[in-house]
Amino acid sequence: MVPATDAVAQMVWWFDEYRRLGLICRDGEFYPSVHYPPITMYPFASERALLGSYVPPPDNRFSIYVHIPFCLKACAFCHYPVKFLAPDAEMERYVDTVFREMDLWRERLGVDRIPARSILLGGGTPTYLSPGLLERFLDGFVSRLDLTRNTQFTVDVDPVTLLGDPGGERLRIMRAYGIERLTVGIQSLNDDTLRRMNRHHDASTALQCLQASRDAGFTLNIEFIYGYPGDTLDDWRAVIEQAVTLQVEEIQLYRLKMIPYGDRTAPLTGGFRGLNRRLPDPREVIAMKASAHAILNQHGFQENLGRVFTRDTSAISRYASNQCCGLYDQIRGHW
Ligand SMILES: C[S@@+](CC[C@H](N)C(=O)[O-])C[C@H]1O[C@@H](n2cnc3c(N)ncnc32)[C@H](O)[C@@H]1O
Ligand code: SF4
Repeated sequence: MVPATDAVAQMVWWFDEYRRLGLICRDGEFYPSVHYPPITMYPFASERALLGSYVPPPDNRFSIYVHIPFCLKACAFCHYPVKFLAPDAEMERYVDTVFREMDLWRERLGVDRIPARSILLGGGTPTYLSPGLLERFLDGFVSRLDLTRNTQFTVDVDPVTLLGDPGGERLRIMRAYGIERLTVGIQSLNDDTLRRMNRHHDASTALQCLQASRDAGFTLNIEFIYGYPGDTLDDWRAVIEQAVTLQVEEIQLYRLKMIPYGDRTAPLTGGFRGLNRRLPDPREVIAMKASAHAILNQHGFQENLGRVFTRDTSAISRYASNQCCGLYDQIRGHW
C-alpha cells in the first residue's frame, strides 16, 4: 500500500519502491529511448532496401520534420546536432540541400507536392536564419508541399531571435507562410539558472518574446528543463508557479538528460562538476516533476502526452503525437 497521501510524496515513494525492486537503472539516471538502436548504430541501407516495397499511409499524408541545425551559441545542456555561428554561405547551401532532398522525395512518391499531415521545423534554431534567408527557405519549402489537409505548422525558436526589428520581421514572414504555432525554448524563468545553462537571454527577454509572438497571432508552446545542476525544488516550483500565469497553450517539461545518446554529448555532461554545483538527487528530480504536475493540474493543465501539458487536447503538438501515438510515417530532413 502507498503510505503517503500527498501526490509528491507518493511519487517519491514509488521511486524508492521501484529502486528497491531493482527497476531503476544507474541510480535514477535515465536513457531516452526514442528509437533503438541509436541512429548512429544503423547499418547503411540503400534506397531500394528502404523504400522498394514502401506503401504510403492510408490517408496519404506525411508528418514532416526539418532540422535546421544552426544556433548562436552552445547551451550547456543541449545534445542536439547543431552548428554555431555558421557563415551565411553555409546556411544558404543547407537550405538548397533541403530543397534538393524534398525534390527527391517528390520524385520517389510520384507527387508534385508532398501532402503534409503536420510540420515541425526544429533544430537547432530555424529562426536563427536571417529574415531574408528564412523567407527564401519558407518560400521553397511550402511550394513543395500540399498544405490543404495539414493540421499544424510549428517552428522551434530561441527567444532572442524574435526580438527587435529582425525578430519582428521573422514573425511577420512566418505568419505569411502559414506557420501558426511556435515552440519557445524558455528553459527556466530563473536568471541564475539561465546563466548556468549558458543561455543568451534572461527571463524578462524570454517574456518579451512570448508577448511579441502572441501579438503576432501565434499559439504558443513553451519548454522548460528540470533537474538542472544547482536547482532546488523551491527554485523549480517558483518557475512553474510563474509559468502557469503566462498566456500559453502548451507547456513541455524536459527532464535534463545527462547520459549521451545519438551523435552528440551536451557540453554539460563532461563539465558539470566544474560548475561546482551538485546534480539534484534523482528523488528530488522526481519530486520536481510531481510538484510541477500538481501545480499545472491546479491551473487546468493536464499531461495529455508524456511531458506535454495542455488545457485543451487540441493544442497538443501534432508532430509529437503523430510520431509516438499515431506511429505515422514521417519524412525527416536531417542533413
Ligand atoms: C531542439 S531544442 C530547440 C530549442 C531552441 N533552439 C532554443 O534554444 O530555445 C528543443 C528542446 O530540447 C530541450 N533539450 C535540449 N537538450 C536537452 C537535454 N540535454 N535534456 C533535456 N532537454 C533538453 C530544451 O528544452 C529545448 O528547448
Ligand atoms: S538549446 Fe537551442 S539554442 Fe541552445 S544549443 Fe540547443 S538548439 Fe541551440
